Amino acid sequence: MSGRTGLHHLRAGGVSLVLDVADGRLPVVVHWGTDLGELTDAELHALALGVAPQPFGYPVDGPMPVSVLPEASTGWPGVRGVAGHRAGAAPSTRFAVTAVERDERPAPWASGLTVHATDDAAGLDLRLEIEQAHTGLLRLRAAITSRAGDVYDLAGVLPALPVPARATELLDFTGHQLRERAPQRQPFAHGTHERSGHRGRPGFDSGFLLCAGEPGFGARSGEVWGVHPGWSGNQRMLAERSHHGVSLLAAGELLEPGEVRLGPDESYVSPWTYATYGVGLDDAGARVHDWLRARPEHPRSPRPVVVNTWEAVTFDHSLDRLTALADAAAEVGAERFVLDDGWFGARRDDSTGLGDWTVARDVYPDGLWPLVDHVRALGMDVGLWVEPEMVNPDSDLARAHPEWVLTGAGGRLPGAARNQQVLDLADPGAFDHVLVRLDALLAEYPIACLKWDHNREVGEAGLPPSGRGAVHAQTHAVLRLMDTLRARHPGLEIETCASGGGRVDLGILQHTDRVWASDSTDAHERTAIQRWTSLLVPYELLGAHVSAPVAPTSDRALPLDFRCAVALFGHFGIEWDVTEADAAERRRLAEWVALFQERRALLHSGRVVHADVPDPAYDLHGVVAHDGSEALYAWVCTASSDTWPPPPVRLPGLSADRTYRVALDGPVRELDGIAARWGVPLPWVEAGGAVLPGRVLGEVGLAMPVLFPDRAVLLRVTPAG
Ligand code: DGJ
Repeated sequence: MSGRTGLHHLRAGGVSLVLDVADGRLPVVVHWGTDLGELTDAELHALALGVAPQPFGYPVDGPMPVSVLPEASTGWPGVRGVAGHRAGAAPSTRFAVTAVERDERPAPWASGLTVHATDDAAGLDLRLEIEQAHTGLLRLRAAITSRAGDVYDLAGVLPALPVPARATELLDFTGHQLRERAPQRQPFAHGTHERSGHRGRPGFDSGFLLCAGEPGFGARSGEVWGVHPGWSGNQRMLAERSHHGVSLLAAGELLEPGEVRLGPDESYVSPWTYATYGVGLDDAGARVHDWLRARPEHPRSPRPVVVNTWEAVTFDHSLDRLTALADAAAEVGAERFVLDDGWFGARRDDSTGLGDWTVARDVYPDGLWPLVDHVRALGMDVGLWVEPEMVNPDSDLARAHPEWVLTGAGGRLPGAARNQQVLDLADPGAFDHVLVRLDALLAEYPIACLKWDHNREVGEAGLPPSGRGAVHAQTHAVLRLMDTLRARHPGLEIETCASGGGRVDLGILQHTDRVWASDSTDAHERTAIQRWTSLLVPYELLGAHVSAPVAPTSDRALPLDFRCAVALFGHFGIEWDVTEADAAERRRLAEWVALFQERRALLHSGRVVHADVPDPAYDLHGVVAHDGSEALYAWVCTASSDTWPPPPVRLPGLSADRTYRVALDGPVRELDGIAARWGVPLPWVEAGGAVLPGRVLGEVGLAMPVLFPDRAVLLRVTPAG
């Protein structure tokens, strides 16, 4: 038992984390997963001894389990938790813990552990923080301070958590523009599965949440562990399994060589690495949602129905056209009008004017006031599109300050993407310039929300004049710019957008209030994009807009009811030029807007749930009130099914002992699908609904209608009797 004096049990929200900080070593995870209940000190010691790993690697002096910052000096052959070097010194670390502080943390956090350690030989101090939220969500970060007189060249900090050997299957995400967060699964085999991105943002193909779980884990079953880098710059995530029986998940910032060089007493603080656990993905995701929702800054006012001008007018701005759009949108119930790209400088297309944040006088001779007044008189508030990090070379700003444009080594301009380059916001002059311009706009106009876009990757760009990696400094500068504007304009909301959903992470969500999940407004594609984005992002933060009858991003024609039913499970909005909708379409859209407004409180506070439907043609998702009193589900078909009709589908998340009434909801009251067309009866629907206990609905389920592809129906669940 000697030396096992540093055992810590963090326990909240059904999750236990047992850490061993014995013998001056960095914390080793003894258990991360299901709640172990109250354990005495003796039981904790017995647990630590009971699962203590055998020595691994080359001969070392006794068992050297891998810590949350894995070190080569322990014999661990895999990823390094702290990587870097000084000229003439070995690159490995061997931190010795000098102090451990355990404390309660303010909500939404429950408790935290701060570990201070030092490595005299490497000349480094370490401050490691581990926090657990009330929901069981964990996060970790490390601050490294260089204490020697020369430069420590930091290559990276990568917090890692072990998962049990039974987690043999990996899930992570990939994608491209218009297809963000596409899931991919594979066995968790020996070796390293790495997802890194040098894009200056997480990217469309970001790994997003790297999960390891029991074989076949789904939405409702199978233990699953996941890590996520809460960082909006270059990212690194990996799953590593060694033949020693150790499996790790790690996530953090990806540094370019030479990007962070620490002089004497200089520090680097890693972004937070988030770690969630659950029995099924819904459970793991709920720990993130509930934590986000418990933050004091979480948006609490009803999320307004948005009308965004992008797909309706693109760059073709005119007061007449936009006021007509505002009139039509207000008529169907829109509550926020977001003026997208094209309102400023010489920005009549995407080749000019980016960076010139003054209202285009040729288009808006009296400024934005006539439009703003018109919109506000209709009862809507106003949002405005900006892209503060970027510049067209053909702009007044780039002409006046070419030195503010990020370059590659030797001053070489990176290849243009969408005719634009990246402004060096780490340069105080550039930062102040953009701040002053945006601040002036926000002071002049009553702008409720900025749609903050980011349309090119930063990959090659470096800090002028050295060409050294710029993303670390740039990312911090952008977040600082957002915070400064929000501090000066209390109540200002920000939507994060990057050519769609290229910058969606829990880091930027601490500075923003909404994500634009994808530029694909094709409801068929959106079904999957929203399903997987909502793994971390609750519906009130997830922008989802109804597009034109033929989606401009795919040329796919889709029925209005389907487009609306998909957008309902998000922060509902309209991207369609509703001036082109006929009277019947406008009436139907207005019905959906009204439905969203009626169900908004539930949609934006309830637990997000999914059924594990074996048929890939169908999806059942929904929200269940936290007290179990009501629920709303969508039964969605996106392909022709190989089963006809589908077997009963379980309705997840209801309270077992309550009795509920299930009935069709929303404008689609008559089944518009194969069932109705061919007269296939669905007795419980024909009877006007089903009344059953939650345990029956959750275990046996209900027969679902056979739908045509790209059709959806809604099921409303209310207390019976
Ligand atoms: C990309 C965004 O994703 C779109 O929604 C739109 O805002 C355009 N940029 C504007 O340039």
